[in-house]
Amino acid sequence: MPRSMKHSLQDEGSVQTLVGPEHRHRKALFVGMLDTPARTDLDRRVAEAWQQEWAAASGSPVSLQELAGRSLTAGVCAWADIPLSDRDLDRRTTEFAAMIDGAGSFGPRNVRGRALRLRTEAWARQVLRDSPTGTIPAKVAGHRDADGRLLEERVAAVELLNLLRPTVAIARFIMFAALALHLHPEWRARVAEDEGSRSAFAQEVRRTTPFFPVVGGTAARDLEWEGVRFARGDWVIIDLFATNRDPRLWEDPLTFAPDRFVTGEPHRNALVPQGGGFYEDGHRCPGEPATVDLLASAAGRLAAADYTVPGQDFRVDLRRFPAQPEDRFVLIPA
Ligand code: HEM
Repeated sequence: MPRSMKHSLQDEGSVQTLVGPEHRHRKALFVGMLDTPARTDLDRRVAEAWQQEWAAASGSPVSLQELAGRSLTAGVCAWADIPLSDRDLDRRTTEFAAMIDGAGSFGPRNVRGRALRLRTEAWARQVLRDSPTGTIPAKVAGHRDADGRLLEERVAAVELLNLLRPTVAIARFIMFAALALHLHPEWRARVAEDEGSRSAFAQEVRRTTPFFPVVGGTAARDLEWEGVRFARGDWVIIDLFATNRDPRLWEDPLTFAPDRFVTGEPHRNALVPQGGGFYEDGHRCPGEPATVDLLASAAGRLAAADYTVPGQDFRVDLRRFPAQPEDRFVLIPA
């Protein structure tokens, strides 16, 4: 990945920069911390934080990105046993959002994201030192790499942030879910009442949301894959945006149709908004199942809630990366 992006999102020494057995070993830490009971707990914590934020915003216009971002920050920190004062919550929400927002740009947005990152990393290092045994930060701090060595504190802080910050990025998908409910109100009742429809809706939002359009990397060794030869160091780009809309994989790909997911799970290399391949053995996002759960729950809450949507600009500029509805989906909770 370009260095500016790597600095915003992953950084040197993080799981995303490792290959082979070292990567598999580190990746298992993430997959293990996000198993089914952990995901259920995370979902519950975020729902609790959401109720508070929703009640606090009652009667006034709020951007859903902000409301969801604060709920996710408060929820994921509660899940990880990280105490947050109100001031901490404001700071962390702002910092995480700035890093995500800056990831795909090379100008001031990126510089701002990287500057705030230094502050967040200092905070994460303190969290690692303060956290009691058995908590998520203590698990990260106590993780031993494949060679038996503990992670350097700098790397442990980066990996802790690799759990917290991308969870907050789900706010972007939630904004697009609200936009989809707004544009397709016929889905509201099903999403509010039926769990299967809720998941299908979340999957279709992930398929159609222009989040990260591509992921890139370099070939770790000389190899041949499906008849194409790669030399060590060759650049490879996976076009996530196009794969999610490829007419060879999707019927009527430009239509928003959650029912396409009601009948079963898509092929792992067809629905790829969070990378392709396998979790354990490749770089596919280990937070994907948690993302689907949290997005489906948020869509369910929105579909069941009473709110108004004032006039605003819903356009999505695909040249902006990461993309978003122009006014960040403003709503007024009843
Ligand atoms: C908005 C939701 C999210 C999006 C759009 C997203 C997207 C991605 C993408 C595109 C990749 C790279 C995949 C590849 O290189 O093939 C990735 C990797 C990763 N994601 Fe996510 N992600 C999200 C949520 C999460 C969550 C909730 C977590 C953790 C709680 C997480 C943790 C990670 C980590 C640690 C990696 C590196 C994996 C590796 O290198 O093996 N992500 N994500």
